[in-house]
Amino acid sequence: MKPDLEKIVLSAEQIASRNQEVAQEIDVHYQDCERDILLITLLDGAIVFTADLIRNLNVPLHLDCIRVSSYGNSTNPETAPRILGTLKSDVKDKHVLLVDDILDTGNTMKKVYNEVVKKEPASLKTCVFLDKPERRQNDFQADWSGFNIPDEFVVGYGLDYAGRYRQLPYLATLKPSVYS
Ligand code: PRP
Repeated sequence: MKPDLEKIVLSAEQIASRNQEVAQEIDVHYQDCERDILLITLLDGAIVFTADLIRNLNVPLHLDCIRVSSYGNSTNPETAPRILGTLKSDVKDKHVLLVDDILDTGNTMKKVYNEVVKKEPASLKTCVFLDKPERRQNDFQADWSGFNIPDEFVVGYGLDYAGRYRQLPYLATLKPSVYS
């Protein structure tokens, strides 16, 4: 384990195993779908989860990305979520699956959900790698989530602190000295 880290919360093996289960559930949900689904990943944090999830999915899909930023270098929300880019895909009448790394306050996913639903998709579902239900500031719930975790700051598997640690293959907490 790297010296900045306090403890490993989820191992790479635990994550891989759960990803297979989640992907199976998603496959079952879309099995009778006649059209390819449109999977929209929320950059940057969801990039690692999305890469693993899509390689476990059998349902035919197209991939698109949207960039949303709310946290900057802080561990607390600083501003309302901002959508920083536009989709390349036409969402209307598509079966859309939004994928993010973490549902924390829920403000990011709610904002994106509300923007996408305006574009009249045939259906709209959400999948997150992590859920922190204690932190929620609205009634948003994901259709699929990998793990519920308590309210502690975690890094790795796409999640960062000040832009670092995203490439860790596991989820970990940081030593408090790293924040100070
Ligand atoms: C993180 C994460 C989620 C969002 C969740 O994004 O990737 O998108 O926060 O938080 P919320 O439920 O409280 O809105 P961040 O703004 O840190 O950008 P990043 O994806 O580039 O890490």
